[in-house]
Amino acid sequence: MAPKDYKSLLDPARIPAHVAIIMDGNGRWATRRGLSRMEGHRRGAEVVESLMDAAMDLGIRVVSLYAFSTENWSRPRAEVQGLWKLLGYFFESRIETLKKRGIQVRHTGSLAQLPASTQEVIARSIRETRRNRKIILNFCLNYGGRQELVDAVNSWAGRRGAKETMTVAKMGRFLYSPDLPDVDLLIRTSGEYRISNFLLWQIAYAELVFTKVLWPDFRPRHLYRTIYEYQTRERRFGGL
Ligand code: IPE
Ligand code: IPE
Ligand code: MG
Repeated sequence: MAPKDYKSLLDPARIPAHVAIIMDGNGRWATRRGLSRMEGHRRGAEVVESLMDAAMDLGIRVVSLYAFSTENWSRPRAEVQGLWKLLGYFFESRIETLKKRGIQVRHTGSLAQLPASTQEVIARSIRETRRNRKIILNFCLNYGGRQELVDAVNSWAGRRGAKETMTVAKMGRFLYSPDLPDVDLLIRTSGEYRISNFLLWQIAYAELVFTKVLWPDFRPRHLYRTIYEYQTRERRFGGL
């Protein structure tokens, strides 16, 4: 049976503005094929471009990709180094394409601990695409939700006046990327049902969709299917 054409079933008026993706399963994808885990990461990186095209075509405004968590430092040194090398290569080789396609590159997380060459190429990608307006590609690198909240509180505490107190609205202004809207749809691949410290504040009212597909196998048709699933949900935000 041919796969269902979910794209044609989507309601263009209810496309999520901000889609966040936990790109998981690269290692298992490779291991199952007798390949190295790094090969899985390479294949995973190749998925991003066609996915951004599909997202842009649908009218999604922001795609946040979880590419390296603050907990991923606990992996073997060789894998961590391999990941930074791959990410550096990704930005280096794609910067022109991203620029031409109108994609604005952003970073959410803490850059300070990254290798200098990676920091440099990320900064350049951000700088050279800052005028692009078609879609925002928000790379979450060395990102941890708890660290973001702690950093937000500390940066607020450093600035506050004598009797000031924290509020929900104010807290949002101290996050790493305060101008980005809350997440509407959170997708996690690879059949794991957890958040793994991703965008804890921003997903407060996101719809969660989990799929068994491993990240290197994720194609635009899987994106259409998750958005279709999202559109079947009733978002109540605590109201009736
Ligand atoms: C996700 O794939 C990518 C990163 C965390 C960098 P994994 O490397 O977690 O793949 P699995 O979960 O081991 O299959
Ligand atoms: C989450 O995946 C982080 C990224 C996708 C970058 P992990 O594979 O690191 O998460 P856990 O360890 O299964 O929770
Ligand atoms: Mg994983």
